[in-house]
Formats: sequence, structure tokens, C-alpha cells
Amino acid sequence: MAFPPSFIDELIARNPIEDVVGQYVSLKRSGSNLFGLCPFHGEKTASFSVAPDKGIYYCFGCHKGGGVVNFMMEVEGLSYPDAVRALAKRAGMEVPEDEQYQSRYRKQERLWALMKEAGRFYHSQLYAPVGAECLAYVQKRGLSKSIVTRFGIGFAPNSWNALVDAMKKKGYTDEELKDADLVGEKNGRIYDRFRNRLMFPIFDVRGNVIGFGGRVLDDSKPKYLNTSETLIFNKRKNLFGLNFAKKTKLDYMILVEGNIDVVALHQYGFDCAVASLGTSLTEEHAALLSRYTEQVVLTYDSDEAGQRAAQRAIPMLEKAGIQVKVLQIRDAKDPDEYLKKFGADKFKLLLEESSNRVEYQLNAVARKYEMKDDEQRIRFIHEAAELISTLGSAVQREIYGHRVAETGKISFEAMKLEIDKAFKRRIAREKKKQEKIDLAPAQAMQPKSRSIRYVNMKSAMAEETVIAMVLKEPALLDQAKELKPAAFSSALLGKVYGQLKQRHEQGLEVSLAVLEDCTAEEISHVTGVLQRQQGPVNEAALADCIRTIRAEHQLAGVSTEDDLLALRNQLKERKGIKA
Ligand code: CTP
Ligand code: MN
Repeated sequence: MAFPPSFIDELIARNPIEDVVGQYVSLKRSGSNLFGLCPFHGEKTASFSVAPDKGIYYCFGCHKGGGVVNFMMEVEGLSYPDAVRALAKRAGMEVPEDEQYQSRYRKQERLWALMKEAGRFYHSQLYAPVGAECLAYVQKRGLSKSIVTRFGIGFAPNSWNALVDAMKKKGYTDEELKDADLVGEKNGRIYDRFRNRLMFPIFDVRGNVIGFGGRVLDDSKPKYLNTSETLIFNKRKNLFGLNFAKKTKLDYMILVEGNIDVVALHQYGFDCAVASLGTSLTEEHAALLSRYTEQVVLTYDSDEAGQRAAQRAIPMLEKAGIQVKVLQIRDAKDPDEYLKKFGADKFKLLLEESSNRVEYQLNAVARKYEMKDDEQRIRFIHEAAELISTLGSAVQREIYGHRVAETGKISFEAMKLEIDKAFKRRIAREKKKQEKIDLAPAQAMQPKSRSIRYVNMKSAMAEETVIAMVLKEPALLDQAKELKPAAFSSALLGKVYGQLKQRHEQGLEVSLAVLEDCTAEEISHVTGVLQRQQGPVNEAALADCIRTIRAEHQLAGVSTEDDLLALRNQLKERKGIKA
């Protein structure tokens, strides 16, 4: 069930896409479209477009696209009904609540409220008599009272029912406590999941408590217990500390590994520190960061695991358009220990010294080889040349070339030759890749996502054209009466066509902005289809496409498994063999 179509139509009419997007992106008009910097991937040239007449946005860089509701979902990280609610509020409209959505939304609100109550409870326990040992630990770790308050840090008592009892008193049910992942269950009875742990509430960017990370007070294992996935918590999409860090005046963010590191950095004035939540950095994390900053200083632990994690995070962040620097912690295992040992001013020096990722990677390469051994020195020079050749600017290539020449004890001229060779190899590789794409247009047209892959390219191209044409000229749908969604080879395009057709028949607006039951990826794909289509929009072109689709459908029909089986049985019968 969904919101009534007429309501959605009015919602879209009263929330012009250029106005809504304009609140997030500064847009400049160019012809009938508007352009700006894409809010979903970091970029320096404007490849993000808004077409007010079509009611859609589309990014030519990251290929995200859709209508105004999809935009709200993406940019604010909202579910479909919540995005609708936000737009309704913006336009001063009342939302006709459907029962199912209402119950999901209510459930979500209850969970937020419950997590907030739980956070308050844990925090209060830190200052209760049961929390004495934990409070002593907090003090030993040097966390100030004000930072403990700001982060809402607390203590989960060493009890099987302290939290359960407190929350039940507030009216929460077993079911809700289970949904929030605050309890375990045995023989039908629930019990506190976090016991005798220092509790870090995890906030989303809007400041709701969505999860907890609980650290032991000694060296026992496991060191951390974290909320697993719930209706309101996904560790791949949230960063610890981002709700505070997003308000920083600094023009970079510091990415660290540990919760305690984040808290310590904030305490020492670096209010731009965040950490991923007990998992390695994901693409979603990188995209999230790129919304708030252009530069990230990676400050992972100095052990091997930390360094490996840094190497993994670099390309992820760069892909999101973030400039990456790497800060190397010396004489301490992590930023927290460093701050306690040497203070904020020394850490500031480390920050200033922190190098861009190439310098860091070059050092890592240099460490792999023994320079006294000629064979290894040559391998070092090759590998370093490859790395330097990835740099976009000639000046940078020259600067790092000089440095490597010195380390590898060869002349700069010889080094320059190596880099140029590596550079040419790279260009040739890229050209080959491009040629492959040009030579195989069918491959190039194939959707990026596996789940929407085209099985019949010829038919799919005609299907794409039909959808683009009817979106541009809905009256053409009268001409396509005999074309059924089932004839489409692509399930997605068939589904979209079916919805557009139905809306047209009901006299509703035909536009991409109103598609239902599609994932963000699917909507983006279909928006891309509309943006690409350039041919004529008329009855003859439509008739051509319909012919192709039907012919391909009939061909496909003969070769389905069932038909083949029937055919085989017929043959056997004729030969007198029993099937
Ligand atoms: N972590 C986890 N499970 C573990 C260990 C670590 O989820 N068993 C996550 C936690 O989010 C932790 C981060 O990985 O914050 C980094 O680990 P670590 O540096 O060991 O934790 P800190 O919070 O920095 O604690 P400390 O420095 O006191 O050891
Ligand atoms: Mn740590």
C-alpha cells in the first residue's frame, strides 16, 4: 500500500524540484536545465542537472537521478514515506497516513525514544554507586566530565535486568527492547545485553541515538559489544562522532579507528574527529563524509592492522572526491595515547606535517625493499614510478620523482624516463579499455548494476526508447495500447512502463517523479534512460520500437524451457518413444 496517487501528484506539484534541490545545491541555469555540484559525489565541475519541466534531477558523473521524492530520500537518508512527509511539511500539506507506513514510522519513533531513554539510563548509572568502578576507569582514561556529558557516555551495570526493568517501567515492551537489540533472550525471558561496560551512544547525523558501543573495563574479550543491525541502525552508513564533527569550523575531518580516539580528540579541541563503527570504512561512509568535508586526514593506529586499513581507505575516499592526507602516529599506539602523552600542540604539529597520500604510499613502498640489494632497488624504482604516474599534475610527478631518485640512488633523468614510461603504459591501458567499450556498444549500454542487467539487448534498447518517448509525449501511450508490460524483456522497464500506462489511463500525470516500488538504483537507471534518449519522438518511431519488442518477445517465447520440453515430447511421441 502507498499514499494515494492524487496526493503524491499534488505533493510533487507543490514542491518544484528546482526549489527543493536549490536548498542543498547552488544551481545555475543553462538553457532549460539547471546545473550544480553533485551532492552525492564530490566533484569540482558541475555535472549535476535539474530539469524543472520533467521534474527530475540527474548526475552525469555518478548517474544518480530521480524525482523530488527520490532526491529527499538520497540527500537526507530518508525512507520513502519519511521523504514524502518531509515534503508535505515543506508545502504545508496534511499527510493521509496509510496504516502500514504509519505503523513502521511509529515503530521507528518508538525505537528512537527507547534508545534515548536507554542512553539516559546508562549515563545516570555512571554517577550512581554501582558505577563507581567505571567512573574511576573513565577518569583513569583522562576523559573530562564535560566531554562525558557531551557524548552521553555511560555505564551498563553488571546486572541481567537493570536496563530491562528501567525501560519496562517507562512502558517499553519486550518486543521493542528486542527490536532495539538492547537485550538477549533465553527460554522466553529477556535479559540485558550490555553488562559491566562503558557505554558510547552512537548518534545519527540528526542527533538521534541509534545504537551503542560498549567497551569492557579491563583487558577481557570481546573488547567491544556493538548494536547489530536494527530498523534504525546500520553501521555501514553511520560514523561515530559525525553529529558533532559536522558542525566543525575546520575545513577537514580526522578519521580514526576507535571511539575513545574520537572522544579524546574532541576533548583536546579537534572537534572534527569521526570513526567508523567497528568495521572497515565503506563506500557509504566515504560518500557520507564527502557531504561534510573536502579533506580527510586518516589517522589510523600505528600497528600493522591500522596501516593496512589506511591503505584500503585511501582509494575509497578518493573515489568519493575527497582529498586524502595521512597522519603517522609516532611513539604511541593511537591518537588517544598520543594526546595524553604529548598534548594537543604536538598533535597539531603532526597534523601540519601530515602528508598527502602519495608520500605516505611511497614510504610504504620504500619500506618493502632493501635498498642495498640492487635487484630490490630496481623493483622499488619500478613500483614507485607506477605510483607517481597516477598523479595528475606534472609538477607533482617531478617533485616526487626527485625524491624517489634520491632514495633509489639514480639520476633524476633516469627516474623521469621510468615515470614517463609508466605514464605511457597507463594511458595505453586506459585507451584500450575505452576502445573495448567503443567496440562493444551493447556492453556499454548494459546497466552497471547486476540486478537490472538486460538479457535481450536489442529489445531493451527499444524498451528504453518507448519509455523515454512516452515520458516526453504521454499522448503516445494511446498509440501503444496493444503493447503489454509483459512483452518487455527487462523486468524493470516493463514495470515502469506498466505504471506509466496505468497512470495515463487514470488521467494522472505521467512522469518519472511518481514511480513506485523501485529502488534508488532503479530510479537512477530509468532517469538516465530519459536523459540519454535523443531520437525523434513520434508515432512512427514508437511503432518501430513496438514491432521490435513484440518480435523479440515472440522469439523468446519459443525458446522458453516449457516450450522446448513440449517440443521434445512431441518428437518422442512421433518416434513412438514414451516420455
Ligand atoms: N572494535 C569493535 N570490536 C572489537 C574491537 C574494536 O567493534 N572487539 C571497534 C570499536 O568501535 C573501537 C574500534 O573498533 O572503537 C577501534 O578499536 P580500538 O582502538 O581497540 O578501541 P578504542 O575505542 O580506541 O579503545 P582503546 O584505545 O581503549 O583500546
Ligand atoms: Mn584505540
